[in-house]
Amino acid sequence: MKRETVVVLDFGGQYNQLIARRVRECNVYCEIYSYKTDIQTIKDIQPKGIIFTGGPNSCYEPDSPTYTKEIFELGVPILGICYGAQLMMHLLGGKVEKAPVREYGKIEVNVDTNSKLFTNVSPKTICWMSHNDYISKAAPGFEISAWTNDCPVAGMENTDKNLYAIQFHPEVLHTQEGTKMLSNFVYNVCGCAGDWKMDSFVEDSIRSIREKVGSGKVLCALSGGVDSSVAAVLLSKAVGNQLTCVFVDHGLLRKNEGDEVEAVFGPEGPYDLNFIRVNAQERFYSRLAGVEEPEEKRKIIGEEFIRVFEEVARKIGAVDFLVQGTIYPDVVESGVGGESTVIKSHHNVGGLPDYVDFKEIIEPLRYLFKDEVRKAGLELGIPDYLVFRQPFPGPGLGIRIVGEITAEKVKMVQDADAIWREEIAKAGWDKKVNQYFAALTNMKSVGVMGDERTYDYAIALRAVTTTDFMTAESAEIPWEVIGKTTSRIVNEVKHVNRVLYDCTGKPPATIEME
Ligand code: XMP
Repeated sequence: MKRETVVVLDFGGQYNQLIARRVRECNVYCEIYSYKTDIQTIKDIQPKGIIFTGGPNSCYEPDSPTYTKEIFELGVPILGICYGAQLMMHLLGGKVEKAPVREYGKIEVNVDTNSKLFTNVSPKTICWMSHNDYISKAAPGFEISAWTNDCPVAGMENTDKNLYAIQFHPEVLHTQEGTKMLSNFVYNVCGCAGDWKMDSFVEDSIRSIREKVGSGKVLCALSGGVDSSVAAVLLSKAVGNQLTCVFVDHGLLRKNEGDEVEAVFGPEGPYDLNFIRVNAQERFYSRLAGVEEPEEKRKIIGEEFIRVFEEVARKIGAVDFLVQGTIYPDVVESGVGGESTVIKSHHNVGGLPDYVDFKEIIEPLRYLFKDEVRKAGLELGIPDYLVFRQPFPGPGLGIRIVGEITAEKVKMVQDADAIWREEIAKAGWDKKVNQYFAALTNMKSVGVMGDERTYDYAIALRAVTTTDFMTAESAEIPWEVIGKTTSRIVNEVKHVNRVLYDCTGKPPATIEME
């Protein structure tokens, strides 16, 4: 059965993933493709609709991202957003130029509620605008469907050709009725049925994994995190005993985590995963000795992981498939799917070595966003406390120790992190923040303890609120909680004489330190 798909054509906008997520929230499957993707590939997908994203460029500049006009002749409905709207007008004979007044922020927009895009939307609705250029004249054949005081052409449509364009961003939550508009596009304009649901995802995946694997042996990389746990349980439902799960303790886990993972997924736990634990701490530490550069650390950890798996696989013999819990944001952020710049190569994707000794890698969650992974986890009957765990990166504490990693530093950050997590949970803040951890800065500074001078490390505490992990805000944790944690850390963790709280949001910082 072919799944109905909406294609998001990415022109470099920062909200490209959000567009795809919102469409999926409408139960319509959606994938992101770079504007460099050739039209035949798009045709082969047979999309129900196409959405052009925003982007930072001016469409009338010679080297700006563009697309062949042939796309407008496919008979597939298209929605242009911001840059995407301007580009559509530019290509079809409208006029785009520098706006006399730059619009930025929440703006009241008047919409024509007779438009299919604005069905059930209030005639005056708050939308998020962010543009320097504007459409001064819609292309021939287009009717104006939305406007503001400063932007006379904020929405336009050619209903004969099913082409729609809007200057504002419906995907951003600041656009109060944005989800309704996207839902109108996918249902009223594209005629989607809404077949993207997690129960059918789980069923379809189980079926297709069975087909692919046949009687082959499968090895799953299990870290105990949400993604790999969901992947492992999914695989176990699909292929039962043919699956072996390998948990590599790379010595960069949180305090006691290795034993906790073993308690849940090991032979004593509720799952039957042929669980193998490999204690490879020393091996990772020696490969990482003297390495300071974050990307290099990631690559080493990623590669060493794969090497360990290969060795286990050789011992088991005749392993055909390797399963990884890669999810869609890993793919897009690693610069594989859309147009965004590589910020960090997440080790599941960008850090894979060129040569991998398996017939094939299976990534059953490769096209899911985190919230969808969680829904799939619940569908599979995985308990809530595992499904809603805060994320923990594949390279683990390796990217929470700035600079060189040593066993001593790992111990410091583990102990400090355990205290922080305990105090956050005691204060009930674990439900209010989405990710929180301690990191070891590479900074040493002078302190005084008793009457002695100390020259020791500084721990940074971090806690963020975020919905998508693409942007985040530093959480305003009460001072008592930070204070209590600080005094415990400096008292209980050797070689730490200073504790700092990271107040930076993302952007400009990232959530992890490296
Ligand atoms: P950043 O630091 O990029 O993190 O703001 C966003 C989210 O991704 C997690 N993260 C990673 N996860 N491998 C992973 O599996 C990685 O290399 C990696 N780097 C960051 C991070 O914990 C946060 O949830």
